Amino acid sequence: MAPRREFTPRSVEAEDVRLGRVDPHYAKTLIRLLAAHALAEKLTALGYQRALEALADEALRPVVEKNLREERRHAALVYRALGEIGVSQTEADRAMMPALKAPSFEAPLRFARRAAGALDLLMASLSLDMTGLIMIGINYKDSSYAPHAQAAERILEEEAEHEMFGAGELARAVERCGCEAVGEALRGWLPAAVNFFGPPGSGFTYDCLRFGLKARDNDELAELYLSMLERRLSHLGIELPKLTRGYPHALA
Ligand SMILES: [Fe+2]
Ligand SMILES: [Fe+2]
Repeated sequence: MAPRREFTPRSVEAEDVRLGRVDPHYAKTLIRLLAAHALAEKLTALGYQRALEALADEALRPVVEKNLREERRHAALVYRALGEIGVSQTEADRAMMPALKAPSFEAPLRFARRAAGALDLLMASLSLDMTGLIMIGINYKDSSYAPHAQAAERILEEEAEHEMFGAGELARAVERCGCEAVGEALRGWLPAAVNFFGPPGSGFTYDCLRFGLKARDNDELAELYLSMLERRLSHLGIELPKLTRGYPHALA
């Protein structure tokens, strides 16, 4: 069962954390959440950078450049929020090292390290921009931590455009490559995209919900993502690949 939310939206400022006016466990949970958010933005930026270097379709260059600039800005915004409470980028990234091996980081790592070609770029956008939009729009926009809510608001507008880019590219890819190729690429990415939301019912998420750092558990967001994606795909005549139920999800 979801815990009672103890902090209202935007009720905690950096100073409250710095001066120890909030529960030390609130600060610890906040730092872990911000570190994960910052790293996801940074890896997405790296992915767009790699995509730009290998870009074959010149028509896409302006939009990929724009997305790269914006993802870098998103990462910088969240790292700045961490800096305000005394956590450097190096410290934040170091703390995330064990989490990088978790299924929830497979999609951003894959984009940053080995996604290749136009279809992979599209799948990365469907896996990271569309999921990011949901996480930020639903979970972080009303965070009890005011600086995170403010950063989310700034990120949200740009993520909505990235998401529209992904939607447009999806339709174009179906025209160019056919339903079968797009469906196959999707099968390769979908489990990682859904796992990006993280495991449901964890102690960490329980604390995030209790402290008002998140509004919903990860499985609710994952379900919302799948239903949105399913609707979008059905317009294009593609069936949503079936996944196993529990986290980490795999192809069924
Ligand atoms: Fe972003
Ligand atoms: Fe994005």
